[in-house]
Amino acid sequence: MIEGKKVALYVTGGIAVYKVVDLMRELIKHGAVVRVAMTKSASEFVSPLTFQVLSKHAVYTNTFAEDDPSVVNHINLADWADFSVIAPLTANTLAKLANGIADNFVTSALLATTNPIFAVPAMNENMYTNTVTQENIDRLKLRNYMIMTPDVGFLAEGYSGQGRYPEKERIIHEFESFIRSHSDQLPLKGKRVVVTAGGTKERIDPVRYISNDSSGKMGHALAVEAWKKGADVVLVSASHLESPSYINRVVVESARDMHDAVLKEFDQTDAVIMAAAVSDYSPDKMEEQKMKKKDELTLHFKKNPDILKDLGQKKRDDQTLIGFAAETEELLHYAEKKLNAKNADLIVANQVGEKDRGFNVDKNEVTLLSRNHPPRTISLREKSEVSVEIIEWLINFMN
Ligand code: C5P
Repeated sequence: MIEGKKVALYVTGGIAVYKVVDLMRELIKHGAVVRVAMTKSASEFVSPLTFQVLSKHAVYTNTFAEDDPSVVNHINLADWADFSVIAPLTANTLAKLANGIADNFVTSALLATTNPIFAVPAMNENMYTNTVTQENIDRLKLRNYMIMTPDVGFLAEGYSGQGRYPEKERIIHEFESFIRSHSDQLPLKGKRVVVTAGGTKERIDPVRYISNDSSGKMGHALAVEAWKKGADVVLVSASHLESPSYINRVVVESARDMHDAVLKEFDQTDAVIMAAAVSDYSPDKMEEQKMKKKDELTLHFKKNPDILKDLGQKKRDDQTLIGFAAETEELLHYAEKKLNAKNADLIVANQVGEKDRGFNVDKNEVTLLSRNHPPRTISLREKSEVSVEIIEWLINFMN
């Protein structure tokens, strides 16, 4: 989402300025090209030099310091950016922007900006809840500003309240969402994709369960990647991993729950990616009370529904099914069997048993197996990068 975007970062004078250094680094890590402009009060908190060194570009602070006669700096910055981010946005600059005041570099550039503007207000709670501030926020929202709601939490004043500068993860997620809402060329726009993740848990009694080894990282990465390509995503997850707020998540525990959740969505879904490690069996009955220790224990299991297989039988021609095959031996042989037995369109096969890939780690090496194409191996890389390849396959297949 953020990769390759030109971002003008406007920093105004609140105590949260020191946190914006980190936000800028995060934007750069995500692949943005960042240029910074600061108000005089912002530079009282953190020196422009800090932002200059990290953004590798001069920081704009003075409207009249026109170092390049061929351009007017504040207009040039406004025109250059794909997106503008104001962080932190103080009550003072907010009020100026709401009233079209252009009395410094930041407010002048923003008045000249026609690209989308994303703002992160941070201030004292009483300043934030003051009706004047709220009216100013409403005015800017009417002018297509996206203005985040600050966090409630510990403020610089030493007490808890609303107005706190949000965690950078939340800012990045909401910014990605904002970018997505301004992109109309996304290849999965209008498509609905269901992704499953995690190892299901089959309860033996209220404190014990059996499960499969799985962190849910692959499924979560696929959900994010499908979302970035424009899809409406439903993540049916049995994992404890967090997911971004923009992902619509259904929490499940057992294979039966997952089966019901996925089937409920299936009719109105264009593609299902079954990345979950679904338990094949569950105890035939769950004890209501915690079982007492005995010398020996025999459990009886019944077979769980095979979700992918059920979907394969119900699937329409306009629906795509992707399954996973984690194997300890004869990877491609078993993966091909699954492709046919489950009527999937793609099986993503990965070898189990090596420490640096697969279960619970961040990397994976997989082979994509589909009908009428030779198997294609995606060499060992981050699961987020593997998911880019899988979603690319899905996009090509759907077209
Ligand atoms: O048959 P096997 O479990 O090896 O197949 C793996 C694929 O089938 C995965 O995509 C997994 O999510 C799915 N599966 C399922 N329901 C089960 C077992 C596996 O959907 N009960």
